[in-house]
Amino acid sequence: MNLKLENLKKIYDHKTVVDIDKFEFKSGKVYAILGPNGAGKTTMLRMLAGVEKGDEGSILYNDHISINYKKVSYMPQQTYLFNTTVKKNVGLGIENSKESKEKIYSALRYVGMDKLSNKKAIELSGGESQRVAIARLLVRHRELVLMDEPSSATDLSANELLVDYIKRVNKNGQTTIILITHNPIIAVKVADESIFMMNGKIIESGKSSEIIYLPKTQEMKSFLENWRM
Ligand SMILES: Nc1ncnc2c1ncn2[C@@H]1O[C@H](COP(=O)(O)OP(=O)(O)OP(=O)(O)O)[C@@H](O)[C@H]1O
Ligand SMILES: [Mg+2]
Repeated sequence: MNLKLENLKKIYDHKTVVDIDKFEFKSGKVYAILGPNGAGKTTMLRMLAGVEKGDEGSILYNDHISINYKKVSYMPQQTYLFNTTVKKNVGLGIENSKESKEKIYSALRYVGMDKLSNKKAIELSGGESQRVAIARLLVRHRELVLMDEPSSATDLSANELLVDYIKRVNKNGQTTIILITHNPIIAVKVADESIFMMNGKIIESGKSSEIIYLPKTQEMKSFLENWRM
């Protein structure tokens, strides 16, 4: 799915927190959004996911203003799991067939949570919950996958899992994936392009390895230096 943003603005309490002149997310590509706290990353992703409305401007999905949200997966910054078992969380809304059951187990095996499939989701740790959220994405085929800091609570092996998941989903060449991350290494590993945001604006964007290894602006240089500390 292709997304075109034009003059997109979000204002909270008289403050413009997202302010994007023009940007295009191309179909089948992986994008990483980087930037300091409060840059407007989550707000922008929420607008793309349709859970938040912009105050000005437009988002076009495959050149249409409206979109069938069944084509979109959104994984919010705070993992939200329903008060039921792990496996039910993964399979929610999916038809109850033998094939689906196999898909759910295979997704749980993939994220290393198959042994906890009958555990109550509310009893999981933060990292375990994120793994379940990834499994939930895995059993659904979407044209647009939006992930807000999917690796924030996970350990190294889970980061590798995330990288592998993104490559796997992106293989069909049709799914557009946009993920917010504080980790530039993840951005270089998975994203074709990276976007650096600050004060609601896109300060730099381009090929991940170029903008991360050769940042042009002082803002991005400072951001990367802080990250290394
Ligand atoms: N519902 C809201 N009401 C008022 N202000 C909000 C709301 N949501 C976000 N903001 C403000 O908008 C700005 C951008 O927030 P946002 O959550 O998009 O930042 P972010 O880049 O995702 O930051 P982080 O890295 O900390 O997650 C912040 O100043 C925040 O306080
Ligand atoms: Mg955020």
